[in-house]
Amino acid sequence: MFLRPALLSVAAFVTKMDMSGLTCGSISVPGESPIRSATAPNNEVDAILDPAAVWKEKEVANAFTDIRESVPLAKEQLDLMVRIIKTFHQPNGGARPFTWLDLGCGDGPLGRALLEAFPDSQGTFLDFSEPMLETAKSKIDAMGMTHRVSLVQGDLSSPRWMEALNQQQPKVDAIVSGFAIHHLTNERKQALYQELYDMLSPGGVFLNLEHVASPSLEVEKIFDGAFVDSMHRHFEGAKTYEECEQAVYYDLNVDAEANIVVSAETQCEWLRSCGFQHVDIYLKYLILALFGGVKKQEDEASAPL
Ligand SMILES: C[S@@+](CC[C@H](N)C(=O)[O-])C[C@H]1O[C@@H](n2cnc3c(N)ncnc32)[C@H](O)[C@@H]1O
Repeated sequence: MFLRPALLSVAAFVTKMDMSGLTCGSISVPGESPIRSATAPNNEVDAILDPAAVWKEKEVANAFTDIRESVPLAKEQLDLMVRIIKTFHQPNGGARPFTWLDLGCGDGPLGRALLEAFPDSQGTFLDFSEPMLETAKSKIDAMGMTHRVSLVQGDLSSPRWMEALNQQQPKVDAIVSGFAIHHLTNERKQALYQELYDMLSPGGVFLNLEHVASPSLEVEKIFDGAFVDSMHRHFEGAKTYEECEQAVYYDLNVDAEANIVVSAETQCEWLRSCGFQHVDIYLKYLILALFGGVKKQEDEASAPL
């Protein structure tokens, strides 16, 4: 969603190609970079193989984070995400902290909302883009909450993303993702949903705030117009209406090459088939949807006989 790969030229990537970066990176240890990584980045090669890799470019990361809060219903989406997690979250009497993951975190708006809403929680911000993780880190630093988080570089397009997580950690209580999973193939989306189900503790919540398929081009156009209006209101004169149109229709237009959008209804079916309960599209605004589900309290498949 939102980003137009035309901002960057594929030719530039080809001339900068460096095959040495294709080797695997290492997990960092305390005292080294605070960002853990399962794979060493090679943005140039990635961008050719995967159009979503444009997110690893600083220019793209900055362009998106600049407008993120002007997305229609941005605040309502986060408020509802927190409300749903609070509803299903079972306090465990302080036996261990409430833990969560923010997948494809970008500069971390979802995880930062969880840090504020759950003051005793600990979270992991995961993204495959170094500039995005750096921006997330500086925003979390500014909140004074760095000690409560891990920042992890991982690529959701393969199950290897889980290698970058702290394997010692118990199951997670909530998993959120914003506008990221639609970059994965449909086969990979479904596999990821099962990985997330398996990773959640009983009663754990998964919420995906996502760019979903529309029934028609007309519906997408209604969204574009609403986005221009919302952005213009948000910037209160700091951006002209024409600049907002430029951002929505050109700079931040749908990143067609990197988007593999699926209807929220279909994805809810996928979640049900993983075993999620309470599955619903909790909020929908044209091409944007907040949907998800809750893991069974006692997973019958793994319960002792
Ligand atoms: C539109 S931004 C959304 C960021 C943030 N979640 C938000 O709601 O503002 C999409 C994010 O997904 C990340 N992303 C895309 N494909 C990814 C992948 N295969 N693995 C990990 N992160 C990915 C990008 O780097 C980018 O930060």
